[in-house]
Amino acid sequence: MTQKLLLGLDVSTTGAKALLIDSTGQVVSSASTALSLSTPRPLWSEQNPTDWWAGMVNSIQQALAQAGASGEDVAAIGLTGQMHGLVMLDEQGDVLRPAILWNDQRTAAQCDTIRARLGKQRLIQITGNDALTGFTAPKILWVQENEPDIYARCRHILLPKDYIRFRLTGEYATDRAGGAGTILFDLKTRTWSPEVLQALDIPAEWLPPTHEGPQITGVVSAAAAAVTGLKAGTPVVGGGGDQAAGAVGVGAVESGIVALTLGTSGVVFATTESALIEPEGRLHAFCHAVPGRWHFMGVMLSAAGSLQWYRDTLAPQTSFDDLVGEAASVPAGSEGLFFLPYLTGERTPHPDPLARGAWVGLTVRHTRAHLTRAVLEGVAFGIKDSFTLIQQAGLGSINQVRISGGGAKSPLWRQIMADVVGAELVTVNTTEGAAFGAALLAGVGGGVFSSVPEACEATIQITGRTAPSGNVERYAAVYPRYRALYPALKDEFKAIAAIEGGA
Ligand code: XUL
Repeated sequence: MTQKLLLGLDVSTTGAKALLIDSTGQVVSSASTALSLSTPRPLWSEQNPTDWWAGMVNSIQQALAQAGASGEDVAAIGLTGQMHGLVMLDEQGDVLRPAILWNDQRTAAQCDTIRARLGKQRLIQITGNDALTGFTAPKILWVQENEPDIYARCRHILLPKDYIRFRLTGEYATDRAGGAGTILFDLKTRTWSPEVLQALDIPAEWLPPTHEGPQITGVVSAAAAAVTGLKAGTPVVGGGGDQAAGAVGVGAVESGIVALTLGTSGVVFATTESALIEPEGRLHAFCHAVPGRWHFMGVMLSAAGSLQWYRDTLAPQTSFDDLVGEAASVPAGSEGLFFLPYLTGERTPHPDPLARGAWVGLTVRHTRAHLTRAVLEGVAFGIKDSFTLIQQAGLGSINQVRISGGGAKSPLWRQIMADVVGAELVTVNTTEGAAFGAALLAGVGGGVFSSVPEACEATIQITGRTAPSGNVERYAAVYPRYRALYPALKDEFKAIAAIEGGA
């Protein structure tokens, strides 16, 4: 190898991935080891941290082998992964119980406790966020209340990516993007909040030091070098949670450039220059992996997931291209048909696990093509809700939207999205997501790039543009009708869930 490589490590819910890139951003190799999820009880979602490490060791070995590289060739390592998960370790650094993951829903009562102890407004003022079941703090309280023996033996709390860091370097440390997702953070000072820790009775010494995304947090230990093939002494940077690192990976690092991910879920990610908050906590407000920057985030739970469900359920023999192709002939607004995409409840702008999906406005004139177009439009309207909240919370102008994820492959959906949000959408050349962003952060920490924006500039290019069309006004006229539907149906959703035993 003549040139030094950058290694991005991503411990996601489905796999442990190792990605090697060169300093121009070219992917040199990529390897992933599948991880399984355990649901020991309804609402629970857990994984064993030692499985993450075993999977990551395997992926690192494979990525090096595929590249024909040795540990000597790696200049620096960046970490990313699923956010919010709770890892508890004892004095010796041994895992005390399975990690409780971001999608675990057992902590509704603990969220109420957090609001009661701090006051909802004070909680949002300090942390930027309301208490949600997915976040880390309520999970710690759950163990405090339900597993006192384990809680008594706990000495270290880490996030999933930081367990990989601990096994790689022997250091207890976290990054600030991930740290903010615990809601134990003071958003403005970018580190643990003494007030929140005290109110929740969580010992401050259990929490690791915090670092900016590109800052070096430690080096690969001799023990980790022996099992992975990496070189002892290779620097490991802070990195970031998957959303912040993913935003770096598409170059969404400046205010005015928004990242929109249309995967199973839909995420709107907007960089901010100061610690802005949405006063009701309807948006997440976290630290960015870019030093000294923050971001808002809106999360729609079923975005491309809505189209997937619709096609699998009502048109399983039809390809996505054919199904979506039919919808192109239907006028914007689907002739008065609306779809609510709350198939798995919702997070933004309605944090409501009981919200349900619906088509509203059906008449005999509507065809399958109308149903399809209404699904595409309903998802776009739900995404616009996040844009609206972000702008109302003080972001200012949105100059560009960088779209990625499976749903971004459809030209019609991109056009509908550009028309509904009223902004130009662009696609970029990078497709390796959060692992790519983590590798760029490693490049900054390792001295290959001088800053995160410079790393993005050097490696990320725009590959396509979708400008808003003549349908912008039509969508602006029908969007208020979509907006009115959730408030009108909210109580009925709750009543329906009660009949079904869901509430
Ligand atoms: C972000 C979130 C997910 C997880 C899992 O708030 O909950 O993106 O990080 O990937």
